[in-house]
Amino acid sequence: MPQHLTVVTHPLIQHKLTLMRDKDTSTAVFRQLLREISQLLAYEITRDLPMTTVRIETPLQPMDAPTLAGRKLALISILRAGNGLLDGMLELIPSARVGFVGLYRDEKTLEPVEYYFKVPDLLDERVVIAVDPMLATGNSSAAAVTRLKQAGATDIRFLCLLAAPEGVARMKDAHPDVPIVTAALDERLNEKGYIVPGLGDAGDRMFGTK
Ligand code: URA
Repeated sequence: MPQHLTVVTHPLIQHKLTLMRDKDTSTAVFRQLLREISQLLAYEITRDLPMTTVRIETPLQPMDAPTLAGRKLALISILRAGNGLLDGMLELIPSARVGFVGLYRDEKTLEPVEYYFKVPDLLDERVVIAVDPMLATGNSSAAAVTRLKQAGATDIRFLCLLAAPEGVARMKDAHPDVPIVTAALDERLNEKGYIVPGLGDAGDRMFGTK
């Protein structure tokens, strides 16, 4: 994946995203849309997975048919909103292993602090897809990717629903080797760190919290 930022402008994704942005969309519908978009984004982020062929027999004749080359995949959810992307992606890639990274922001230093880290083994042999719906300041995403690299990951991609230019710049600066796939690049962050126009707090909207 050479390109640093891919905005997937497919009409189905853009239509579903508009419904998700609408403040009157219910939690149940928001969740379902997130599930559907996560699959469409997963389709895009796995577009260049290495392929090989396998000898099979169709009812008519033998053939060398394309199949995934067998590089193992790991999906890493950046807690807690990343979890909303997992179910849909796992339906598409059922054999993927799953990990979790939990970070909170220290009130004094404003630096991300890790409170949970559990990832699959052999990260160095896997295509690692880190997922978080909102790439806002990019601080926690960049810290999570740093941590995944410390754990051995070398092929990391980042999947999000919405990105702010600030977050993309932060990630490009810290991790130029990590391509980002998103459904939209929004205008900016507001003074509270929300993406605008955005969709609000993704975790609250998918889990029905406030
Ligand atoms: N996280 C969210 O859930 N929403 C934003 O707009 C920014 C960060």
